[in-house]
Amino acid sequence: MVGPETGFFNEQVSRDQLPKEEERTGVLKFQILHNNLKEKPPDQHLIWLVGLKNVFSHQLPRMPKEYITRIVFDPKHQSLGLIKENTVIGGICFRMFPTQNFLEIVFCAIAANEQVKGYGTHMMNTLKDYAIRHNILHFLTYADESAIGYFRKQGFSRDIKLSRQAYLGYIKDYEGATLMECELNPRVPYTQFSIIINKQKEVIRQLIERKQAEIRKVHTGLSFSQGVHRIDIQEIPGILETGWKSSPEDSSKHNELDKDPEKLSVVLRNVLNQVKGHPNVWPFKEPVKEDEYPDYYETIRYPIDLHTVSERLKSGYYSCCRLFIADMLRIFRNCRTYNEKSSDYYKYANAVERFFINKMKEVGAMVDMT
Ligand code: ACO
Repeated sequence: MVGPETGFFNEQVSRDQLPKEEERTGVLKFQILHNNLKEKPPDQHLIWLVGLKNVFSHQLPRMPKEYITRIVFDPKHQSLGLIKENTVIGGICFRMFPTQNFLEIVFCAIAANEQVKGYGTHMMNTLKDYAIRHNILHFLTYADESAIGYFRKQGFSRDIKLSRQAYLGYIKDYEGATLMECELNPRVPYTQFSIIINKQKEVIRQLIERKQAEIRKVHTGLSFSQGVHRIDIQEIPGILETGWKSSPEDSSKHNELDKDPEKLSVVLRNVLNQVKGHPNVWPFKEPVKEDEYPDYYETIRYPIDLHTVSERLKSGYYSCCRLFIADMLRIFRNCRTYNEKSSDYYKYANAVERFFINKMKEVGAMVDMT
């Protein structure tokens, strides 16, 4: 069982925790940067675009610098810039194709000294939320071999769900790179995802803790002040709280009569009296006398006889049919164990046992004794 003590739920730190904290305190911010020819962007945005172009040029050395510059400043492309203390430390350059329901990620990079701190994750989640707000539910990118692992962790896969007609001729084709896709779920707030998961983990942890506290409870235990008697499993304090349920197999070992002690006693007494009236019952009426059969009690470990059964019945010992039947059958089994098969006693045991079982069946008091 995964419980609070395993430590599984104590791991509350998510990959994007640091950037989120920096964003909350104003150290870090995201900015959509766009070289819009119709409406001149603020100078600061153009400065950040130059900074982002430099990050891409350093981090994607196989891409010609001129090509990067052309794409980053192309009015059809936009960039999500990651700005830390007024300096661009990374970003994603993308192009949206709203009619085709996808967004192409052209460049994605974080400055070398800021990598593997969670910025790449938070940046991708921020772009996912941005795309959903613009009704775009697919990301496509040609990932460099070295970045496939990162994209996979962001939910990208080589298994492209979008139809080829939707992107063929629209997206730029890069040699040696792998086309990957990420399908977005509009109901998921991606930047809040790790917080939601941690909250869910916390709720589950508390539920498990509560359940374990209940199970750990010390119950009063069983009482035998009225003598030893049969107790149903479900009557044991605490058993039901653990989720115990009786199986159909258990119910075949009980009888409806077990629920009514008075009726049970009447029915069993009636059967016992009929057995006592059987013509071959006389050897089983009283305990075997040791002086007549000196080795009897060495051979038979659990002796029993009809007189003892009667006494037990009077004392209320038989709280269910099963206990009564077990004692009765033991009388005949003991007899067959001690006596030769050819003896009269052996035959009497078989005859009276058959009679007893039939009587029990007649009154509906027989149960499965396996
Ligand atoms: N390969 C495999 N796994 C990676 C890589 C990688 N190259 N980079 C990061 N990861 C893993 C991290 O270990 C982390 O895993 P974890 O959460 O299990 O610990 C997870 O991805 C996310 O890590 P972040 O810290 O959020 O990512 P980071 O801020 O380092 O940004 C990025 C990742 C953008 C790939 C950065 O490493 C980078 O700029 N690399 C160089 C440029 C590059 O390769 N860009 C992609 C080219 S393809 C394209 O542009 C379309």
